[in-house]
Amino acid sequence: MIWIIGAKGMLGHDVSLTLEKSGLTCYGSDKEVDILSPSALAAKAEEISPDWIVNCSAYTAVDRAEDETELAYKLNRDGVGNIARLANKLDIPVIHISTDYVFDGTSETPLAEDAPTGPISVYGKSKLAGDKVLMDTCEKVFIIRTAWLYGQFGSNFVYTMIKLMNKLDTLKVVADQKGSPTWSRDLAGLIATIIQADSTEYGIFHYSGEEDCSWYDFAREIYREGKETGLISGNCLINPCSSSEFPTKATRPAYSLLSKDKVKTVFSISVPKWQDSIKIFMKGINNNDII
Ligand SMILES: NC(=O)c1ccc[n+]([C@@H]2O[C@H](COP(=O)([O-])OP(=O)(O)OC[C@H]3O[C@@H](n4cnc5c(N)ncnc54)[C@H](OP(=O)(O)O)[C@@H]3O)[C@@H](O)[C@H]2O)c1
Repeated sequence: MIWIIGAKGMLGHDVSLTLEKSGLTCYGSDKEVDILSPSALAAKAEEISPDWIVNCSAYTAVDRAEDETELAYKLNRDGVGNIARLANKLDIPVIHISTDYVFDGTSETPLAEDAPTGPISVYGKSKLAGDKVLMDTCEKVFIIRTAWLYGQFGSNFVYTMIKLMNKLDTLKVVADQKGSPTWSRDLAGLIATIIQADSTEYGIFHYSGEEDCSWYDFAREIYREGKETGLISGNCLINPCSSSEFPTKATRPAYSLLSKDKVKTVFSISVPKWQDSIKIFMKGINNNDII
């Protein structure tokens, strides 16, 4: 039995679908089993006897976290700590999702798992605190750091762009932040691989779409695919701009491309190029057939 915590979130949804498609028996919980309540977690574990926990729950409001520091830490550090202690007690592995925002953005080359962290936002700091609790508490833990996640079942950059490109004649998109988008379905596939292999290769792994881009490059690809599939009907001119033209409450790392060398070697997988994944995603949502 695989227990997916945060199953109603964007990634949680895709993990549930992917694991079930792989023939794995899953149980999904979300806010009704509050990760802040050790007794609620323990009672659910008693009921379902999980063999694995996949934690997709989190506080993910990056900008709001600057004002809701306490809440961000509660969920991303303390809630994760509750899951970690439970998994350790049950002696079962946990797969947990972390973020490229644990880095400060000053690197100029793809970030390996042992690259120095230095989060520059409350969200990034709270996620890093959760990773540390897990590493300190759990013997059997996989922490997967991912980036720029989009998927069918959540609000994300792709949906925002499609909406804006259908409404506006021109659009400015930030061109001075580099990273790589990740389709939640691809990440869910990695999670299925780890569980199906019954892997004991515990540790931190990086996973995002292959090859780098800026948000501007990503927006242009969304536009191109949107025109091709018919998801975008009008014409919209997309212009590059700098982060300073779009001030956000939380600072984002200027560079956060994750190296996938470790994950590819350890799990013998290939990582799809972000351009290929966005194409499949947009064709799928257009035809309503990616479920
Ligand atoms: N989205 C990105 O771009 C991105 C990038 C890198 C890494 N990540 C990481 O990837 C993971 C999945 O992200 P996501 O975008 O799929 O997140 P999401 O859509 O916000 O899903 C998180 C889920 O956790 C639930 N949750 C919140 N508080 C809870 C609690 N106390 N107990 C149980 N469940 C609770 C949320 O419910 P409510 O929605 O009702 O609050 C939501 O259903 C997270 O760890 C995130 O940090 C995301």
